[in-house]
Amino acid sequence: MSLAEGSVEAGTGDGEPILRCRGMVKRFGGLVAVDNVDLDLSEGEVLALVGDNGAGKSTLIQMISGVYRSDAGTIELDGKRQVFSSPEDARRVGIETIYQDLALCDNLTAADNIFLGREITTRRFGFIPGVDQRTMRERASSVLDDLHIKIFDLDAPVRSLSGGQRQAVAISRAVYWQARIMVMDEPTAALGVPEQRKVMELIRMLKARGVPVILISHNMADVFEIADRILVMRRGAKVADFATADTNSNEVVRLMIGG
Ligand SMILES: Nc1ncnc2c1ncn2[C@@H]1O[C@H](COP(=O)(O)OP(=O)(O)O)[C@@H](O)[C@H]1O
Ligand SMILES: [Mg+2]
Repeated sequence: MSLAEGSVEAGTGDGEPILRCRGMVKRFGGLVAVDNVDLDLSEGEVLALVGDNGAGKSTLIQMISGVYRSDAGTIELDGKRQVFSSPEDARRVGIETIYQDLALCDNLTAADNIFLGREITTRRFGFIPGVDQRTMRERASSVLDDLHIKIFDLDAPVRSLSGGQRQAVAISRAVYWQARIMVMDEPTAALGVPEQRKVMELIRMLKARGVPVILISHNMADVFEIADRILVMRRGAKVADFATADTNSNEVVRLMIGG
């Protein structure tokens, strides 16, 4: 059942992280892009992943989202060891990822995008199989309402939507399908200020629903506003992992650039 149908999955409540990564390594030729990184993510937590360009942030989350196979390390989701061969594998167990640009199919509507690859089917006249556009549209509209997302023309292709609305559609998809965790790589980088605020609000809604978020961001103000914890990477390695309340942006920037 989906969240749109009113079920909010209860937490395990035992304090065990939902996601537990240990000893993650990724090499590109001679370059160690991610060097023995541990990462935990617990229910309802927003974890900011920060670091200078090239620090290995995207590579780390691409191992978590099934884009890259790690050279070493283990990933557990809800205590179960996972090995992903593709982003579809990761999505199937509830790891939803939003990249800055690669999020939606431009030529399809918001509803089509929410149900992409998981369409609701029907049988017309009791036997002709088809896609149930009406039900998909109704459910899409209800999850968008639920998240206070306003899309005036649900029948328009998402290419006609603004950057922020597109992010919102991608987030709706994750909420509708009850993502176990949400991974966002620079979601606000290409957005104007009002739309950045909306994405921040959506992250808060995910958190309120118990869905933990890994957020890669360059924006220290956003990080300190929304993250419960900050993991700092430098040259592939983890150099800090602490509660936001225990640090400040000067310290984080100093750790990012090193020296
Ligand atoms: N597909 C790739 N092939 C070769 N090198 C890569 C590839 N992807 C990333 N890198 C390198 O790995 C390092 C980490 O990159 P990346 O994870 O994108 O960093 P960040 O997201 O923190 O900016 C960089 O030195 C980058 O040039
Ligand atoms: Mg990156």
